[in-house]
Amino acid sequence: MIAVDAQRLLGRIRELGAVGRDGEGRLTRLAASDTDRQGRDLFVGWLRQAGLDVAIDRIGNIFGIWQSAGNAGKAPLLIGSHIDTVIDAGIYDGCYGVLAGLEVIESLKASGLSPSRPLAVAAFTNEEGVRFSPDMMGSLVLAGGVDVEAALAAVGTDGSTLGQELARIGYAGDREPGFLKPHLYVELHIEQGPVLEREGIPIGAVETLQGISWQRITLDGVANHAGTTPMSMRCDAGYAAARVVTFLHDLAGASNAPTVATVGTMRLEPNAINVIPSRAVFTVDLRDPDEQRLQAQEAALAAFLERLAAEGITVSVERLARFEPVIFDGQVVELIEAAARKRGLASRRMTSGAGHDAQMIACIAPAAMIFVPSAGGISHSPREHTEDAELVAGANILLDVVAELAELEG
Ligand code: GLV
Ligand code: MN
Ligand code: MN
Repeated sequence: MIAVDAQRLLGRIRELGAVGRDGEGRLTRLAASDTDRQGRDLFVGWLRQAGLDVAIDRIGNIFGIWQSAGNAGKAPLLIGSHIDTVIDAGIYDGCYGVLAGLEVIESLKASGLSPSRPLAVAAFTNEEGVRFSPDMMGSLVLAGGVDVEAALAAVGTDGSTLGQELARIGYAGDREPGFLKPHLYVELHIEQGPVLEREGIPIGAVETLQGISWQRITLDGVANHAGTTPMSMRCDAGYAAARVVTFLHDLAGASNAPTVATVGTMRLEPNAINVIPSRAVFTVDLRDPDEQRLQAQEAALAAFLERLAAEGITVSVERLARFEPVIFDGQVVELIEAAARKRGLASRRMTSGAGHDAQMIACIAPAAMIFVPSAGGISHSPREHTEDAELVAGANILLDVVAELAELEG
């Protein structure tokens, strides 16, 4: 049985995880930033070392392609994920899948067998969506879900423009997005949730992914003196925002369903200790595996905002991202289960709570995902952790699935 080079994979995960640390050791590689450039440069160097053809498209997606005279021209088997991160991130989210993809291709290349079609690994631009919305942007553009010009015009939280930032860091590529049409797509990722660890199962065969709704809400009230304004005479945008936070928390909690709701950013104006806030700007991340229920939760939020408006608050809502739940390809999910069985590893079918590039590629090619456990279910945090043996086991399942699909010839 072919296996990945565990030390090379683990070493690269750690080396990439050291890129983009600030003075306090916090890891942040926001899309198209200087630290993202450093991470990309390291990855591209590894692609070249592995003898892969490197291609970069206009949205900055990086591809490492292994093709031969015998299979060139056929649609490739694509493995991918992302190497951009959230703020103060862990080292595994996205990077594990990208580096395991490279590792799988290198290992198969070294095995002397040749695949019936090209194999490619992708690092997609701006999966996290922290700096530019929507998230999963590079894979969304590849899948034709948004026009490349519109995506390049996205304005970041810091007022920058994605297209300009990609050019600045040297990753505005020359290939048209979609130049590479995958035959099939597999993504390996840490679970980022508690299920696999709780059940003691090393491999998740991901068959569905929940719907995601992102909105930015601006509430306008009236600034006034914090000491002199009676409580009954206030139009307090900060208080109204806080009510939205508790409304959403209670809505999700009481749904008796897997709805989750998060207000992850908030800004008050004028942001002074003794001034009643005139404005609150905050984001809402609302998710549910069921589209009807997600729509109902969005409607409940809209109705609550109308109540605030009736009380004198001016409300405006901007949609940042909206993706329906996804069902992955049943045959690829079965292949993942079969690969786990062959290696004597237990697996379970599951739903992804996080968004992933696989959900975009699933619109244009059969796709599925493999999960490995996350310690304590923690992710989007420096405390994100997966044991080395679990990382290697997941990479070997990816290897087996790709080898099976690639119809290797001696
Ligand atoms: C991507 O990390 C997400 O927000 O699910
Ligand atoms: Mn991820
Ligand atoms: Mn993430």
